Amino acid sequence: MTEPRAARPTTTLAPNVVPSSITGTDESLVRRAGRALVLAMHGALRAVKLYPVENTAVETALAELTNQSQELLKRHGELEIRVSTEFLFVNGTRLRLDLDNFASFSHLLAMLRAAEIGTLTVAQPPTPKDWLVLLSVLQSGTQSDPERLASILGKLEAAGVRAFILGPPAEMVGEDRGQAKDRARRTYTQSVAVTKELITSVRMGGAPSLRKVKRVVQSIVEQVLSDETSLVGLTTIRDYDEYTFTHSINVCIFAIALGKRLGLTKMQLYDLGLSALFHDIGKSRVPEPVLNKVAGLTDEEWRLIASHPWLGVLALFQIRGAQELPYRAMIVAHEHHMKPDLTGYPRPVRPRRMSMFSKIVAVADSFDAATSRRTYQTVPMSPADVLAEMRDNKRRGMDPVLVKAFINLTGVYPVGTLVVLDTFELGLVHAINPIPDMLSRPIVRVISDQQGNMLHPGELVDLADRDESGEFRRTIIKTENPDRYGIRVGDYFA
Ligand SMILES: [Fe+2]
Ligand SMILES: [Fe+2]
Repeated sequence: MTEPRAARPTTTLAPNVVPSSITGTDESLVRRAGRALVLAMHGALRAVKLYPVENTAVETALAELTNQSQELLKRHGELEIRVSTEFLFVNGTRLRLDLDNFASFSHLLAMLRAAEIGTLTVAQPPTPKDWLVLLSVLQSGTQSDPERLASILGKLEAAGVRAFILGPPAEMVGEDRGQAKDRARRTYTQSVAVTKELITSVRMGGAPSLRKVKRVVQSIVEQVLSDETSLVGLTTIRDYDEYTFTHSINVCIFAIALGKRLGLTKMQLYDLGLSALFHDIGKSRVPEPVLNKVAGLTDEEWRLIASHPWLGVLALFQIRGAQELPYRAMIVAHEHHMKPDLTGYPRPVRPRRMSMFSKIVAVADSFDAATSRRTYQTVPMSPADVLAEMRDNKRRGMDPVLVKAFINLTGVYPVGTLVVLDTFELGLVHAINPIPDMLSRPIVRVISDQQGNMLHPGELVDLADRDESGEFRRTIIKTENPDRYGIRVGDYFA
């Protein structure tokens, strides 16, 4: 009998299995079976959460899950679910995410991450009871606790469940948080510098080269794939004077992070990142006084601004090595203000459908533009209000599924939001809560105490934490404008 234990053998395979010779067809079979398994796990999790154990819904869901897992185990001689930088692998094959299974995937991913589980190996055919115990244990305990995995293993042991071997995530062994943050900061500064050079050159009528920009986008993609939070946190810097450049980089980071959630491949993320970085390149052909005008625009000035999408396409042709630019960058430059119902600008002559990349960039663009300070927008909306508006105001013309995925990425209160807590403390949202049900309870840095004394750097608290009586220790009452308190959000992240 195998004991549940933290360590896992690298690849323990039954002798009759030869995974190295997996053919294309086998791979798609694993992918299909893997998806069915994940959906069955999600279904069972929901049933266990919603109904009492003896309910037939629970029984059916567990039977389905048991079936799926036993099938996979029998066919491949092994069954390993692995979590790696936001992706799920079943027996080494990465599962493709699409909009249909998005919710179940992200739920399961977030739950395994919160439980500090990197690998779940099914070591012997599990019974419905084994699954029931595992899912209940995973679902209990919502606190982020460094000993979480050890306590889960203890509970499985106590219940006599020996079908599963759980292991920690691989990336926890790697570099520490400080190093990751430094790397993110370097990438961000470097990206802004390169973008500045590029936009200035286009403005002067030069022919900048694409090489450096490509390298910048590649490093952003690498970093979002390995550690999303550090780079997304830096988008809060939103420097007033450097708006044009930081905006391009922020939209690039948000678009890549969103694309990653939607399961795009690395190559697709490169193209998406490049397209996002260039989305407003046409603005470099609009006179600066018009771009920065504070009071109302004349018709002529508005016409100039509204021409930046097609001016962007022209500007892209001007770039050296333009033939290496994905043609989608031109489409994005042209379409990003069009809106899916085509009520935006430019008005297309014939009916058309906005490309997926354009829709992704439009969401990232709206969010960053509305939360930034610019000459004509001295009081930006709070990030939380912007998200709610993007979701609820149909006239904004955002793709609702993408907005939902974006909120899943940023949380209801995005990183950098200033919040007032029911303890009368002030907090800055530091990171999204890894527990999926806790989108409105992020990890917050407490930056002032009940009396209003500023604390520096301030303690990090998890708003999902409860006291002895089961009540949440802290809850957000409302969001506030950092300017009112003289707080520079970027200082807490840079
Ligand atoms: Fe634009
Ligand atoms: Fe923009």
